[in-house]
Amino acid sequence: MLSQKTIDIVKSTAPVLAERGTEITTYFYKTMFEAHPELLNIFNSVNQKKGRQQTALANTVYAAATYIDQLEVLLPTVKQIAHKHRSLNVKKEHYPIVGEFLLKAIKDVLGDAATQDVLEAWGEAYGVIAQVFIDVEEEMYETTKEVAWEGFKNFRIVKKEKESEIITSFYLEAQDGTSIPYFQPGQYVTVRLNITSETHLLNRQYSLSDAPGKNYLRISVKRESGEHLVEEGIVSNYLHNQLTAGDTIELTAPAGDFVIDSSNENPVYLISGGVGITPMISMLNDIAEKQPKRPVTFIHAAKSADVHAFKQEIEVKLNKLFNGRKYYYYDQGVNVDLEDNIFEGRVDLTKFKNELIHKENSFYICGPAPFMKSMIDQLESLGVREEAIRYEFFGPSINLKET
Ligand code: HEM
Repeated sequence: MLSQKTIDIVKSTAPVLAERGTEITTYFYKTMFEAHPELLNIFNSVNQKKGRQQTALANTVYAAATYIDQLEVLLPTVKQIAHKHRSLNVKKEHYPIVGEFLLKAIKDVLGDAATQDVLEAWGEAYGVIAQVFIDVEEEMYETTKEVAWEGFKNFRIVKKEKESEIITSFYLEAQDGTSIPYFQPGQYVTVRLNITSETHLLNRQYSLSDAPGKNYLRISVKRESGEHLVEEGIVSNYLHNQLTAGDTIELTAPAGDFVIDSSNENPVYLISGGVGITPMISMLNDIAEKQPKRPVTFIHAAKSADVHAFKQEIEVKLNKLFNGRKYYYYDQGVNVDLEDNIFEGRVDLTKFKNELIHKENSFYICGPAPFMKSMIDQLESLGVREEAIRYEFFGPSINLKET
């Protein structure tokens, strides 16, 4: 239990952290990696360079400080982060390292403002916050060990299939021949690659793109391109260009809480932009197999027909449903095709105006941040309740209200 004095100090210094949070976490990562370069095998250097991870950690530390006397408010956020940590094999012994360098960063960046009292209060508070994460993650590790596997495990690529000009699917089987555990549609795995030209192991998360219950796991990877994306594209280009059937990659067990609720058959709207389509395909395929009477509206935005993945697969799955329909939106190069429900321009949800507010509807959204923001704004302005909307970021979560 934290003393009232500690709580008061932490709460009163939280605004300073909010203001200088990114500065503190940037300094924190720099000094931590200098002292513990082995941690570079866990963190994604692209997220670091873009400052995305710094902002995510800063936001969370600030939120934790604000709610330090009622941390249960943060539990849903903690759980989401814990899924990511678990999927990256973050362990309890890592927490004291992060704590040490976070405190050092607060001390060095804030200078005189970081009095002994302030540092002690933050040290104590970090201990409490870290313990919440450690407890949630320990439980996840236990469950994962029982139902799937521990840490990283070798998977063999058994098939590679082109889904569009830029997305390719990889069908993966456990190298040790063990069966594939159940996962929830919408979950992701971490892929770890040891690329000889790189100094560290590289980790990336990819959504599973097929329904559970198969003898393989399928991921579908977008090949990143463009000069400024050289680093961002290392893993995806390596997967696309260097790896082929018979090669092996490492995977952690499925994780994530952006999952379809299969406990009822309420109408669902699966709304995706670009490669955000991948978890939606897993959800659609699962519904087609297990809940064919469930109403599904599949809405997808793609730049053009060339980069529109899974078109045929969606067709097959929608045909299995009693009440499945799709709407596609292309940025360019489309003759409006009303028969195939293809439109030009941005997704316009006012088309569904009268049906959206039915309170049993659920909405699942995945895609680039501006796309998700636009979808959420449209839904909310059409009267959809916040609780009915679920969304998933690719990369560290950011606050959509601030983008
Ligand atoms: C991701 C917070 C401790 C390693 C994240 C994210 C947040 C966060 C907010 C972004 C989640 C997302 O992607 O949505 C925290 C907090 C911690 C903590 C508040 C302490 C209480 C740790 C520790 C490690 C760690 C001890 C391991 C050394 C990572 C990694 C990622 C991550 C590798 C993925 C980000 C990337 O690779 O770009 N954490 N974390 N975290 N965290 Fe932590």
